[in-house]
Amino acid sequence: VSSESSSRAITLDLKNFVMTPATRKREVRLSELKDYFSDPEAADKILSSGRDPVVYEYYEYVVEESAGHLSLGLTIIYPGKVGKEYFMTRGHFHLKPAAEFYYGIRGRGMLLIQSEDGRVEYVELRPGVIGYVPPGWGHRTINTGRAMFVFFFAYPSDAGHDYGIVKEKGFAKIVIEEKGRPKVVDNPKYTSSTI
Ligand SMILES: [Fe+2]
Repeated sequence: VSSESSSRAITLDLKNFVMTPATRKREVRLSELKDYFSDPEAADKILSSGRDPVVYEYYEYVVEESAGHLSLGLTIIYPGKVGKEYFMTRGHFHLKPAAEFYYGIRGRGMLLIQSEDGRVEYVELRPGVIGYVPPGWGHRTINTGRAMFVFFFAYPSDAGHDYGIVKEKGFAKIVIEEKGRPKVVDNPKYTSSTI
């Protein structure tokens, strides 16, 4: 088997949640994400106890960051909360109007999407469900369960990522646990100007 043909077959190990090959593997810990949560003091409390848990990790396979290609990936969000807010990804907008999809593999979670003028929609993701992000909409995924939340994603390789706008203004809605269940509520820190 030539290396060329093997890199055209991407394998998802659905037992250990590993994607092979991958051009990038990354772990994102709470210390890196704390300002994205609505209650950074709750994050500080966890961190000051000496813990810095991995909130999520992902594998990505990028053939080439050029128009026409697709980038593929596998994300694992661990179960946990910061205050009432569930563990989640940072979230981003694409620099170009490029769509993306998320295919739920394990556990349960939510895909939160937000239009440039601040409209928010969400999709409950569970194994076998595909969540679709239309071009131009920001997106974040949240683990609303008590086990690992795992999903596969794909998007155009030249989409680009804008994380800054999310860091600055956040999403208009957050997902919290209330009476043991996930609830989508207004983000108290969200600035109402268009994102
Ligand atoms: Fe994306």
